[in-house]
Parts: sequence; structure tokens; C-alpha cells
Amino acid sequence: MLTVTGLTKTFQTSEGPAQAVKGVDFKISEGEFYTLLGPSGCGKTTTLRCIAGLEKPDDGQIKIEGRLVADPSRRMFIPTHERDIGMVFQSYAIWPHLDVFDNVGYPLKVRRRRQSKTEIEDRVIEALSLVGMEDLAHRPSTKLSGGQQQRVALARALIHRPKLLLLDEPLSNLDAKLREQMRIELEDMVSRIAITTLYVTHDQSEALSMSDRIAVMSEGLIVQEGTPREVYNQPNGNFVAAFLGNANFITAAVLKQSSNGIGYLKLNDEVGQLQLSLPDQFKTGEIVEIVVRPENIRVNQNQPLDLTNVLEGKIERIDFQGGQSEFFVRVGSLLLRSVVGGVTEATPGAQTWLTIDANQCAVFTKKNLDNADAT
Ligand SMILES: Nc1ncnc2c1ncn2[C@@H]1O[C@H](COP(=O)(O)OP(=O)(O)OP(=O)(O)O)[C@@H](O)[C@H]1O
Ligand SMILES: [Mg+2]
Repeated sequence: MLTVTGLTKTFQTSEGPAQAVKGVDFKISEGEFYTLLGPSGCGKTTTLRCIAGLEKPDDGQIKIEGRLVADPSRRMFIPTHERDIGMVFQSYAIWPHLDVFDNVGYPLKVRRRRQSKTEIEDRVIEALSLVGMEDLAHRPSTKLSGGQQQRVALARALIHRPKLLLLDEPLSNLDAKLREQMRIELEDMVSRIAITTLYVTHDQSEALSMSDRIAVMSEGLIVQEGTPREVYNQPNGNFVAAFLGNANFITAAVLKQSSNGIGYLKLNDEVGQLQLSLPDQFKTGEIVEIVVRPENIRVNQNQPLDLTNVLEGKIERIDFQGGQSEFFVRVGSLLLRSVVGGVTEATPGAQTWLTIDANQCAVFTKKNLDNADAT
């Protein structure tokens, strides 16, 4: 449905050229919900604007449904209105002087091919009912809540029945509660009409909950692509690990790796050993970083019988968070975080045993750790 190959874009600024997108490749299949996730300034909007035809790329190719829409090497550029897309941007410009109906119907009225009044009416009502706004068709758009305005913007994006929907942080103007509700509605709606969606956000929980696949971007490049589970549990480096949520980083040396892929690792400060399944080959003695999410470390109040992947430590702090508590446990020079659900009897100062889930660790060599700052 969408193929982006080698996309680059540089802006000229007063401080000189700024490369916003540095060679981005990805493909989205029909019906997929695909998200570009990354911190502010990493090039998400620029990528989306190139796909929309609002920005001319310097290099690379963009194909929508197999049709080339941008290829600077052939001086090829199809304008926005000839690309089969619908768009909603962060600042969802809906026109205050028009009511809901006219906001949604506007794109049909400005089209060259004239449509009859009843045809337009049917299409507008159809689009409004997709977002649950048909009852408010004649409400002035100044008298709408944030969520309702967002729905109007969405209905307008869908009025042409586009093949591809581009959404750039469409929920970021809404307050936290409404954002969550709209997230669910949006997800329902796009899956109901089975529209291919390219979503842009810097919010990791939004990306994880909504997407079929996620491309994590940093400084104009995609650094990892995968399903939400893959990028969350198997990050390919520190940047992705830290950007997608809380993570523990544990430095260790590889003692040996057996032929069945089990790696024996010795932690710094002699605080213990771990045996983990390692998908990659590591050399004996190699220094690695183990990444494990707080929910994949279990806190035991008594010493477990099986001490495999158990680290002994002392509880330094417990943050009560309502439905769960976050434990900070000192193990040598490490301070490990663990999330524990439900009510806990444990108290700071107590001795504790942490069980590391061997199947939920990602392991990198040190050389992947250079571009480390994500939080
Ligand atoms: N029109 C422009 N002129 C000059 N520089 C620009 C322009 N648009 C974007 N940039 C720069 O390109 C880089 C990428 O910007 P972009 O808007 O694509 O980031 P983003 O990932 O969407 O960030 P955010 O999450 O803040 O929206 C930034 O450094 C930005 O300052
Ligand atoms: Mg942006």
C-alpha cells in the first residue's frame, strides 16, 4: 500500500542545512496500522509530509498502491490532491465559521468534479457516522469539545474514502483521559473500515497499544522496526530500550555460550550470574549490556529454592502507585527496578531476592551502546 525507499530531506535554515530525514525505508501493507515513533525533532512529521506531498523530498522514492508519487531523481512529484490520502494533523484545523456538516463536506465542494447536493449529503453523513457525530451535523464547530473537533477532522479526512490515512499526533491536543478514550475509538474506527493507517506519535504507550508495527526513529533514521512486542521486549539497542519505557541496564561479561544458545553471564561486582537464551553469538569475555523491563523482575521475600537467575539484594525504596508498586532494589552497585502488582507487605531495608525472567531479556554488545541518550 505504501513503500518509502531511501527518503531524505534537508531544510535550509539560518544556521545552515539541517538534515531532517536521512534515508528512511519502510513498507506498509494493506489494512495495516503502522506507527512512526520517536522523540521530538527526529523527522516523523517531515516523513509524513513527504508522503502527503506537502514537502518535496531531496532523494528517494514514495509509492502509494504501487504508483510512484515522488521520485526526485526523475523529477517526479504528484501533488497532494492527486494522492489517495486522508490526513489529520496535530493542530486539526477545522474552520470556526463553518458548522460540522460544512467542515466535513468542504473537500467535496472544492473538488473539480461537481457532485450533486444529495450525493454530498450522503457522503458527509456517512463520514460523520463513522466517527459517531451524525447527530451533531449542524452544530457550529465553535461549540464542540476537543474530542468532538478531533472527530470532525477525522471525518473530513475520510470523506474522499482514501486508501491511506495519515495521522500526525492527532490526539496530542486532548487531555489525558480524553486521549485514552479517543485512542480506543480511533483504533476501532480504523479497523472497522479497514483503512491502511500511518500514525505518528512520540507517545510510546499510544504506539504500543494501537499499532500492528512500529518504526522507532531517531535523528532522521529508523533504528528499529517490529511489532509492539518485539520493539518493547527485544530492543536492538539502548536507545529503543530506554525510549519505549522503563528498563534496567545490567553490565555483564560473557562466561560462555553453549551450542543451544544459552549464555552464562557474570555480572559486574561479582553480584551474581545469569543464564539467558542469547539469539546472537557472543565471544567469551565479551562485555555486554542486559536490558530487562521492571515487570520482568520478580521480587521474592524469601530465598527461592531454585537460585537460577536470582540476585540477592536489599529493598531501598518502594513507590506505591495504586494498582502496583515499584521496588528499587540494591544489588551491589546496581539499583534494579521491579514492578509488583497488588498489595505488598514488603518494607524498605528488607533483604530480598530478585528473579530475572530469562526469556524477557535483551542482550547487546557494548558497541551498540554509543548513541545511548533517550530519556
Ligand atoms: N520547515 C522547516 N525548516 C527548517 N527545519 C525544519 C523544518 N521542518 C522541520 N525542520 C527540522 O527538521 C527536524 C525534524 O522535524 P520534524 O518536524 O520532522 O520532527 P518530528 O519528529 O515531527 O518532531 P515533533 O515530535 O516535535 O513533532 C527538526 O530538527 C526540525 O527543526
Ligand atoms: Mg512532528
